[in-house]
Amino acid sequence: MTELLTDRLILRRWRAADLEPWAAMNADPEVREHLGDVLTREQSDASVAQFQAEFDQRGYGWWAVEARATGEFIGFAGLDQVDDGMPFTGVEIGWRLARSAWGQGYATEAATAVLAYGFDTLGLPEILAVTTATNLRSQAVMRRIGMTRDPADDFDDPAAPEGPLRPNVLFRIARGAGV
Ligand SMILES: CC(C)(COP(=O)(O)OP(=O)(O)OC[C@H]1O[C@@H](n2cnc3c(N)ncnc32)[C@H](O)[C@@H]1OP(=O)(O)O)[C@@H](O)C(=O)NCCC(=O)NCCS
Repeated sequence: MTELLTDRLILRRWRAADLEPWAAMNADPEVREHLGDVLTREQSDASVAQFQAEFDQRGYGWWAVEARATGEFIGFAGLDQVDDGMPFTGVEIGWRLARSAWGQGYATEAATAVLAYGFDTLGLPEILAVTTATNLRSQAVMRRIGMTRDPADDFDDPAAPEGPLRPNVLFRIARGAGV
């Protein structure tokens, strides 16, 4: 599996040692504010097994993100096939960091490397990003990496419960649009 290297980060395959800090992130209501309920340790571990399987099948997925200076696992970033049932299809980019890793430009740095991989290595014509209308931090990352939102693409996530997780926004970037 390809590893992606940036100035401060390594995007790499998941390791057993990541499971504990990953579970801690998934048990943090602040990290999960725009994602849904916090996850149990079992759910958290199962998600990693799924990430590995998807990566092996497709050659892309969610990389574990490590800070090079400390060797610390700080979250994930990567690409995924848009879920069935969404009002659009394609490949989406995403990111999720431990609270202690916010505010340092790490999500933008990881996302920039992931976008380049999607366009240059996978040859994708377009990459999408989806989040709740209220997740302004994630939307700021989308804007920083050059993605744009057409309000006409706003949609209600059919898989979300009634409430703040339901109204979603869609950002797009086409190959060649540049960062
Ligand atoms: C979404 C999420 C990844 C954004 O993280 P983030 O740290 O705000 O995003 P960035 O990496 O772009 O960092 C930007 C911030 O770092 C600051 N920064 C500090 N040093 C920096 C540097 N060297 N380079 C760039 N930015 C830097 C910026 O000024 C900016 O600060 P601000 O938030 O005060 O404006 C994070 O909030 C998160 O994990 N949330 C929970 C999970 C989630 O919702 N995921 C998205 C689901 S769609």
